[in-house]
Amino acid sequence: MRIRRKPWARPELAEWENCIDVPAENRGKWKSVFKKDAPMMLELGCGKGGFISKLAVANPETNFIAVDIKSEMLGLAMRNIKREYAEAEREVDNVYIFSQEIMLISKVFSNEDMFDRIYINFCNPWPKTHDHKKRLTHNNQLMQYREFLKDGGEIRFKTDNDDLFLSSKRYFTECGFELTFVTEDLHNSGFEDNIMTEHEKMFSEQGIPIKFLIAKKLTVSPCEKQASDAENDADQPENNADCTENVNEN
Ligand SMILES: C[S@@+](CC[C@H](N)C(=O)[O-])C[C@H]1O[C@@H](n2cnc3c(N)ncnc32)[C@H](O)[C@@H]1O
Repeated sequence: MRIRRKPWARPELAEWENCIDVPAENRGKWKSVFKKDAPMMLELGCGKGGFISKLAVANPETNFIAVDIKSEMLGLAMRNIKREYAEAEREVDNVYIFSQEIMLISKVFSNEDMFDRIYINFCNPWPKTHDHKKRLTHNNQLMQYREFLKDGGEIRFKTDNDDLFLSSKRYFTECGFELTFVTEDLHNSGFEDNIMTEHEKMFSEQGIPIKFLIAKKLTVSPCEKQASDAENDADQPENNADCTENVNEN
């Protein structure tokens, strides 16, 4: 989706205390950024923030972080968050946003910043095979997310795109996630408490069913198991492969 330039976005974000300017400075200490000690949840690629603003205001006992690479998007997300909290007559005390390239997300979160849940809503499908590694659900990204997602923690993923959904089910399984809920038609699945994102509304209005899954992080991923098996078996060092490089894209 093309978005018009928003000259107001950067200066307004710079003034807002809930937009973090240099997120890498908080690596390993995100819990202490929040006023309350509470479980943390993360939205990757928050866009205009319709989803995170409603989710965060409805869940005051959870701390939220929303990330997008584009300041224009973050500017709109900031305004949506401010509006939702003003309507609820609440101070914005449980949500922070910042700009970050998600493929480099390990620069801002470590295994000392453990999240209970990650949301990925309508990420770019990157249809060409040579671009698949850029997908936010690709093994390369999932193996990074594992570092700061609690064991038993979840990734909730929505998309309109059939091919991305099919591949993503494989990515999650390969990276040590169990699919605990899968539907090809979220709005007719009986799943409750769904919050619609901007893209979800757009695709639904076009009659496109929304694909949705919940992936639970298992303690050991197949890649980690493979590495530890290889360590215990000096005769087969080639088993100690980097799974992120071994993804079959076809
Ligand atoms: C298709 S939009 C979806 C927005 C929103 N989640 C929704 O469902 O309406 C994808 C968003 O992810 C952001 N994005 C895509 N790739 C990204 C990346 N590698 N790092 C950070 N943000 C990214 C884009 O800027 C855009 O706002």
